[in-house]
Amino acid sequence: MTSSSSKFIVAPGGNLTGRIRVPGDKSISHRSIMLGSLAEGVTEVSGFLEGEDNLATLEAFRSMGVTIEGPHEGRVRIHGVGLHGLKQPAQDLYVGNSGTSIRLLSGLLAAQDFDSTLTGDTSLNSRPMRRVTKPLASMGARVETTDAGTPPLRIQGNSSLKGIDYEMPVASAQVKSCLLLAGLYADGRTCVTEPAPTRDHTERMLQGFGYPVERTGNKVCVASGGKLTATRIDVPADISSSAFFLVGASIAVGSDLWLEHVGINPTRIGVINILRQMGAMIELSNERNVGGEPVADIRVQGAELHGIRIPEDQVPLAIDEFPALFVAAACAEGETLLTGARELRVKESDRIQVMADGLQTLGIDARPTEDGMVLQGGTLGSGTVHSQGDHRIAMAFAMAALRAQGTIEIENCANVKTSFPGFVSLAGQAGLTLNEA
Ligand code: S3P
Repeated sequence: MTSSSSKFIVAPGGNLTGRIRVPGDKSISHRSIMLGSLAEGVTEVSGFLEGEDNLATLEAFRSMGVTIEGPHEGRVRIHGVGLHGLKQPAQDLYVGNSGTSIRLLSGLLAAQDFDSTLTGDTSLNSRPMRRVTKPLASMGARVETTDAGTPPLRIQGNSSLKGIDYEMPVASAQVKSCLLLAGLYADGRTCVTEPAPTRDHTERMLQGFGYPVERTGNKVCVASGGKLTATRIDVPADISSSAFFLVGASIAVGSDLWLEHVGINPTRIGVINILRQMGAMIELSNERNVGGEPVADIRVQGAELHGIRIPEDQVPLAIDEFPALFVAAACAEGETLLTGARELRVKESDRIQVMADGLQTLGIDARPTEDGMVLQGGTLGSGTVHSQGDHRIAMAFAMAALRAQGTIEIENCANVKTSFPGFVSLAGQAGLTLNEA
């Protein structure tokens, strides 16, 4: 079978044990390439995630004249060209499935003195881009979408940008980061105020490269005129990839699993907070700071989970973890209610609908709402579910098999490679009986 039709076949039962390290953080890996390319000097990255999304970012910068060595076993050396050293790419920049690549690059490219076009796969080409093109336009950028507000993005260079003070209507780290990158080139100060805290890797990493960033409450500002100085970056393991194992171990009796060197940035730990509220046994140890990002080893053991009303303030802090959290809720005693999570409908798939469909196929009472889900914990049966090409949906249903009555087959899992190459073997090592067809 070709990789584009890859299917997971997961046998029921078992538990997760041992010590594993999941691959590097996707968000931090993207930013390491972007800021390393714009820096002066050679940036050395270790722990880089060699997933398709990050490789798309890496290739985009190569096409703009940046010499990048690697990746080789997570090591990358980026020969930075400085803030004004990028060259016009010969072709459209194709970034596959990656929302982070397209949205962050749109801000950066809008400020260059050359034209460019960004495009992606069918999923990315149906995702909303006006959330970046509108504020960029008010900075003086010229970025065109299709009539539906989707990619390709046609970006005209030589626009002189001016700083803005922007109140973001949705809590989005991609929008915030896009505007901060444009702000590195804009006249004056560029400020973004977020309605709720979102991941702050861009701000932390800019500071790690010696670029001044001002933060007050929910507002972050940069001014042009600074420079980035090459540095070393040690990318921690991705808490979003760890989330599948946190859920898998929590729902499977007898599990006792250690996840090593996981990034526990406070803007990313919603999954731990939510699972703990549901009764999960999760302990953090050896907490340390690695290059400006907090890291810990995490122990998770099987536990009796109970349904909860998920606090809305946790939603942006767990935004990528809901496919896995819905599986936890399906295995919990009682009702789980999620609200305030409309953003899930515009991720790599409509994660509210696709998860509700799959859970219903497995016999769970999962009712989608406009901005969330109402779910009754129950017994997971068996059957064939569709991931709709969404990596996180595929991995979430793989974990569901730990509590299922029979085999779960998951269609269209090739995109797991966008964020978690090696998932099948690592999950197998931890105790899942997963075959690929
Ligand atoms: C990301 C931000 C989030 C998240 C995505 C990665 C980032 O998207 O869902 O997987 O690296 O900035 P939004 O900004 O759309 O919430």
